[in-house]
Amino acid sequence: MSPKPFTHPDAVPYRPLDWTGQQPPAWPRGSVPQHVAIVMDGNGRWANRRGLPRIEGHRAGETSMMDVIAGAVQAGVKHLSLYAFSTENWRRSPDEVRFLMGFNREVLHRHRDQMNEWGVRIRWAGRRPKLWGSVIKDLQIAEQLTKDNDTLTLTMCVNYGGRIEIVDAVRRVAEDVAAGRIKPQAINEKMIRRHLYIPDMPDVDLFIRSSGEQRSSNFLLWESAYAEYVFLDTLWPDFDRAELWRAIDIYLDRDRRFGGAVDKPQETQR
Ligand code: IPE
Ligand code: IPE
Ligand code: MG
Repeated sequence: MSPKPFTHPDAVPYRPLDWTGQQPPAWPRGSVPQHVAIVMDGNGRWANRRGLPRIEGHRAGETSMMDVIAGAVQAGVKHLSLYAFSTENWRRSPDEVRFLMGFNREVLHRHRDQMNEWGVRIRWAGRRPKLWGSVIKDLQIAEQLTKDNDTLTLTMCVNYGGRIEIVDAVRRVAEDVAAGRIKPQAINEKMIRRHLYIPDMPDVDLFIRSSGEQRSSNFLLWESAYAEYVFLDTLWPDFDRAELWRAIDIYLDRDRRFGGAVDKPQETQR
């Protein structure tokens, strides 16, 4: 298939998914996690350890992100959610915040055609208040451009916070109650789910965090209630598709019980 023409001057040259020549392990059919969520962490430390300012770490993380997206498509992951900017990240210096806002736009400009070519559907999850209008606009352009793709749904979580997502959902349910459209007794998990930012997003199966930190930092709280958490020490700028596949290997060794239990006394005795 010949590549489509590029629509933006910053677009990177077209690359096939497997430009690195790496192939994912042959996992059993149907075993790959459907939804992988990643806290892309460790950019600042990566840069500071090299005597560079933090923003150089964010810059270096762009390659990791594209490699991981390609690796997710190769692996057959259907949903990938990436934490790009949290509702708490406004606490950073004005310079870093400004850089990150502009950088998010640049990354979309540079790679949206490439992702479109790979069959990636780009979506945005997050809050409007405070987020730069230009960032929202670029996210919407990417959503529009890629809306018919279904190889992988990439949710860019920008100005996203898990608690506020639940608060926003609850507020909308409360409005329905106040308007008499529903009764309080009718509120259930499904109803809250329907009011989250992306209602049809499936629950997270595999939750990865790079950089060695072992916390969720408010990422996809509702959606990750039964996710398997895998924490890898690699800093995000050193992360690549092989790391993603390593996390999937770890995930496949886990026993997901969802609260259930199977009685196997013989096995326990051994
Ligand atoms: C993650 O890297 C990227 C964003 C939060 C945007 P950090 O910037 O948090 O890097 P560390 O954790 O300080 O090393
Ligand atoms: C979470 O990382 C947010 C993103 C990766 C976008 P942080 O680096 O902001 O989280 P904390 O401060 O270590 O919890
Ligand atoms: Mg961090």
